[in-house]
Amino acid sequence: MGCEVKGLEGVIAGDTAISTVGKKDMGLTYRGYSVEDLSEHASFEEVAYLLIHDKLPNHRELEEYRTALVNMRGVPDRLKVVLESLPPASHPMDVLRTGCSALGAIEPETAEREQDQYRVADRLLASFPYMLLYWYRFHQSGARISHESGQREMAGHILALLNGMPPEAIVRKAINASLVLYAEHEFNASTFSARVTASTLSDFHSAVTAAIGTLSGPLHGGANEQAMKMITPLRSPDEAEKEILRMLAAKKKVMGFGHRVYKKQPDPRSSIMKEWARRLSAEAGDMGLFLIFERIEEVMFREKKLFANVDFYGALTYHLCGIPTELFTPVFALARVSGWAAHIIEQRADNKLIRPSAEYIGPEARAYVPLDERP
Ligand SMILES: CC(C)(COP(=O)(O)OP(=O)(O)OC[C@H]1O[C@@H](n2cnc3c(N)ncnc32)[C@H](O)[C@@H]1OP(=O)(O)O)[C@@H](O)C(=O)NCCC(=O)NCCS
Repeated sequence: MGCEVKGLEGVIAGDTAISTVGKKDMGLTYRGYSVEDLSEHASFEEVAYLLIHDKLPNHRELEEYRTALVNMRGVPDRLKVVLESLPPASHPMDVLRTGCSALGAIEPETAEREQDQYRVADRLLASFPYMLLYWYRFHQSGARISHESGQREMAGHILALLNGMPPEAIVRKAINASLVLYAEHEFNASTFSARVTASTLSDFHSAVTAAIGTLSGPLHGGANEQAMKMITPLRSPDEAEKEILRMLAAKKKVMGFGHRVYKKQPDPRSSIMKEWARRLSAEAGDMGLFLIFERIEEVMFREKKLFANVDFYGALTYHLCGIPTELFTPVFALARVSGWAAHIIEQRADNKLIRPSAEYIGPEARAYVPLDERP
């Protein structure tokens, strides 16, 4: 017996006007705009504005928005002390989660939530890249980097903070497309946990902190890092095929495949990421890894009818852009904070505590046994 719907699969758990996922007539859209169009034509800031502020900005609005974000990029000295005191071996997702929580203690949301929530959303979006990369660069080389990257756009800002130099155009564009694709995905696990936390009327930082923790798991955002780690030792497509067959025979999951919603149709983000991976490989004059990834995709479909999800070619794209593997999931989080913010604001606008019930499968009622009488 017990609950028939495991993991809330297929359960409609609320309303949203933010995105559609896997809808037959719409596909994946953010406020009605297809991700295919957005990832090709829009900057990540345009998309963040669309998600959080509910419309595509015009020229003036976008420039004002970019300026506001640029001015919010730094972090308080107290937070730098926290970041410096975290161990160099910490996982960067733990650092981001801790940084978000610490910022919430240093600069809490005010009681005027209706106005202040937009400031907090923009502040988190703007400061997360520096928060993450300040810690990263400090523990890599002892450098205390500045938040002034010389880049107005988010993709360029992330890359310049990471590498200490302006990015190449193709790399910046690939990262921008990935940020757009990672920005939002309806009631996925991390967004749902942000909404659950927001539904208790807790503060914005707590909801985002919960979401970061949820995203870090390998069944969710952590899949891109795990996929890369699994593939890195493989030397050829044939070796990759053997390894995948071995994993499937051992009933192991191959990270970067399968999806709760995209079961009968492919994840539309995957083919876009694949094209970026192909372009970056061609540009580098080395298709070796791309062919290994492509073979794994073929084998997974042939053997299990499973499609690659966004994290599979997303991992290769990040690798080819020079992002260190342990930063793959945090970079995903830098984008997804825009979607989390939009959902927290939406949840608050028509709130009801999210508190489902459970099917009880434990023992019948029984008498308490005093401590001394227990065997
Ligand atoms: C995303 C995911 C959690 C969706 O899970 P779900 O809807 O609960 O589906 P299940 O995990 O129950 O999988 C259904 C079947 O497909 C298999 N399967 C699903 N994903 C698989 C994968 N990546 N590798 C191998 N087998 C997989 C399961 O083993 C299961 O097989 P069974 O029926 O023989 O037991 C799951 O596909 C997964 O774990 N993928 C790997 C992690 C990943 O890439 N996550 C990022 C998602 S964007």
